[in-house]
Amino acid sequence: MSDLRFQLNGRWRTENSISPTTTLLDYLRLNARLTGTKEGCAEGDCGACTVVVGLPQADGRLAWRAVNSCLVLVPQVDGLPVITVEGLAQPDGTLHSVQQSLVDADATQCGFCTPGFAMAMFAFAHETKDLGGEPRNDETIHEALAGNLCRCTGYRPIVEACKTMRADPPGCGFADRAGEAASEYRQGSQLYLAPRSLDELVEAKSRYPDAYVLGGGTDLGIRVSKDRETFPVVISTQWVSELRAISDAGGKLTIGGGVTYTKALPFLDKHFPSFADLVRRIGSRQIRNIGTLAANIANASPIGDTIPCLMALDATIMLRSKRGIRGVKADAFILSYRKTAMEKDEVIAAIEIPLLKDGTTFTTYKLSKRFDQDISTVIGAYRLRLEGGTVAELRAAYGGMAATTARARHVEAAITGKPWTAETLRDVDALIAQDFQPMTDHRGTDAYRLRAAANLIRRLQIETTGGEQTGVWQL
Ligand code: FES
Ligand code: FES
Repeated sequence: MSDLRFQLNGRWRTENSISPTTTLLDYLRLNARLTGTKEGCAEGDCGACTVVVGLPQADGRLAWRAVNSCLVLVPQVDGLPVITVEGLAQPDGTLHSVQQSLVDADATQCGFCTPGFAMAMFAFAHETKDLGGEPRNDETIHEALAGNLCRCTGYRPIVEACKTMRADPPGCGFADRAGEAASEYRQGSQLYLAPRSLDELVEAKSRYPDAYVLGGGTDLGIRVSKDRETFPVVISTQWVSELRAISDAGGKLTIGGGVTYTKALPFLDKHFPSFADLVRRIGSRQIRNIGTLAANIANASPIGDTIPCLMALDATIMLRSKRGIRGVKADAFILSYRKTAMEKDEVIAAIEIPLLKDGTTFTTYKLSKRFDQDISTVIGAYRLRLEGGTVAELRAAYGGMAATTARARHVEAAITGKPWTAETLRDVDALIAQDFQPMTDHRGTDAYRLRAAANLIRRLQIETTGGEQTGVWQL
């Protein structure tokens, strides 16, 4: 058995007596007695629990990233530095620039949300400085703070504070390199494994086929945080070197099974910008910093946001086990509600997406009640190739329309080979109704979903042709 050893506000701590499914939030508040970090929702929505973790980059350098401590298990920060709001100010009490900016802008009232905002702002300040690329303007500030909710101050003064803060280091100090994380941590009857290679990972999954594979933790974190579930064996993909790779060589984008949304975004921006726009609406930065695309499809949610895109893009899910490697097309990967084609001893090694050929476009639309951080009511994804105004190929996939994400086969068959006009789409509602019998729930009625799904494809036609809107919308 190895101990967990991580750095908290500049000091190394060793733990060997906590459950491996202890959330970082519980640890901070109950064990370390650092109660500045708050619990609001315990499910990754409010940002009150935000802390900053130094995540190693390809060059070994650490980058400060905001995470929801309610969704992170303590072993996930093994070897890493963690900064909480208590670590921002200097030892003599001089406030960090982020804190002083909040004070100067009158950006706090009850203060419950403020520690989470301060940590999200700290991470954002360092990202804008570090990554050299991101400008600090209303749009990026909004996106950086989308995962933090405030019920009393209002956001304007907080946004103002973001414009004046500096990217100063934390007052508590920190190590600038990650330490070594334990590959195995056992406590009582619980086991947490953190294999380093794909071979070790498949060996572990073969030995513990019922183990929970932790791809980022945004699902597992909720089950622990909200439902207080314990898991006998958890296998983390966090340190599997092969799974952290992403490349766009050989005519395809290959996204390793441990690649986070944040890491995938520059590649998606380059090749599938509409997909990237969608990913920016999946959770918050805190979620995207730990959540992985592979885990998003492995949970087979009917409202998972990435699988419709992968189906429309004709992606292949590469599955590895001790028996070898096999590819499953994305549109054959989901078998039924929450059930995938993965065998118990398999893990997702990579997702391969063919790059778009000339003349082919990819577009996705998400409908939800709130723009940021909301679960989709309906999501449509389309790969379209036109030849001389005629549909040479259409792959259309929808989420939120059935117990599983699925392609709209009747729509595809009826439209392919036809002129790409409003007239061709006049009867698309009936085609959609042949493909899907959606449910009614608090997000939308079955009739709304059918109408919305049909209108999304009309929107695609209008946006790709500059067509007239009158006479084609069904309201
Ligand atoms: Fe709300 Fe963690 S407590 S995001
Ligand atoms: Fe009260 Fe934000 S200051 S919730």
